[in-house]
Amino acid sequence: MTKVNKNYLKLPGSYLFSQIGKKVRAYEAAHPEKKVIRLGIGDVTQPIAPKVLSALHTAVDEMGHEETFRGYAPDLGYAFLRDVIARKDFQERGMAVAADEIFISDGVKCDCGNIQEIFSTENTIAVQDPVYPVYVDSNVMAGRGGQYDPSLQRFDQVIYLPCTRENGFVPELPARVPDLIYLCFPNNPTGAVMTKDQLQEWVDYANRNGSVLLYDAAYEAYISQPDIPHSIYECSGAGTCAIEFRSFSKTAGFTGLRLGYTVIPKTVKAEGVALWDLWARRHGTKYNGAPYIIQRAGEAVYSAEGRKQIQDQIAWYMGNAKIIADGLREAGYEVSGGVNAPYIWMRTPGHRTSWEFFDELLEQANVVGTPGAGFGPHGEYYLRLTAFGNRENTIEAVNRIKAL
Ligand SMILES: Cc1ncc(COP(=O)(O)O)c(C=O)c1O
Repeated sequence: MTKVNKNYLKLPGSYLFSQIGKKVRAYEAAHPEKKVIRLGIGDVTQPIAPKVLSALHTAVDEMGHEETFRGYAPDLGYAFLRDVIARKDFQERGMAVAADEIFISDGVKCDCGNIQEIFSTENTIAVQDPVYPVYVDSNVMAGRGGQYDPSLQRFDQVIYLPCTRENGFVPELPARVPDLIYLCFPNNPTGAVMTKDQLQEWVDYANRNGSVLLYDAAYEAYISQPDIPHSIYECSGAGTCAIEFRSFSKTAGFTGLRLGYTVIPKTVKAEGVALWDLWARRHGTKYNGAPYIIQRAGEAVYSAEGRKQIQDQIAWYMGNAKIIADGLREAGYEVSGGVNAPYIWMRTPGHRTSWEFFDELLEQANVVGTPGAGFGPHGEYYLRLTAFGNRENTIEAVNRIKAL
């Protein structure tokens, strides 16, 4: 008889955003006259930048001619894109990442979720709490979570690294050493960042203990302060212990186009095996490459014109972040984030749980946030708002919350 992967049955509830979607749809169906403003899901709203759009058009036209038509992309990505990434994101910023250490993919949700496959299921993992849910869920599916304790909202084999207002939402080094450590900075959902010195401590810890750091830098383009590292490879020694994920989704509005990349220096090893080899093998076997036209669009992100257009978009979103953070602070809410990340992390008032406050905002202000508890137990008593709405809606949402 066919058996299922029982690890899937250990996952509590449905994926966070489906749960939110259900609640919002039910509310809208019952109150069709209300205008609901969504500042919940982290999806961009600005259109593709003109320079990127024109690269897309050109690439589409190339596909229509025999001489320029392209079929399967190279497993690890086209050289034109890997070269420009290596140069612009790393080498010109003083980091020694080579083009062939970059793996192009159709976005990093898959990479963050799949990377665990190249590691033994005996490894222990550590995650920030709260954090993007994909790291825990993908490891639970693979059997690394242990049992779920609903009262603690935790898996007993996962090492949770509390990120609280007391530690500035930056985790402390764990006493029990994990094998795999997921770090996400700028952080989703708290919007917190690590300084280079803080990140260096993690790199040193990983090298000292033989752990591997899985560093998700999906929001690095939103960093506005000078002392904040954009890449883990700014730290010395990261080349022997760290894998980094980067996405074009929030950097350049590619949530619908789909493009990302993973960096695995050839010097990162476990049990003497280069992780690069394992990931290349996996990529070659299970993945057939991001589309040519999208990789050309990605290349255009690095042109002078493309870069300028994208920076303007990011600045515009961060204008929204400032409106939200300032507005909520004025109204007396405790707020963090929104300076180096498009996320604003607000403490729920009156010790309401994050789902209670979510319901209250939905029903009384018709504003959708994301309950902090959905990102981990230490997200309880917080709500995440995003800066990705349009300006008019963002201002209106803040005014409605202020009027509560
Ligand atoms: C921290 C983090 N990593 C990765 C992703 C996924 O990005 P992509 O669209 O490239 O799959 C997201 C998307 O919300 C994210 O918040």
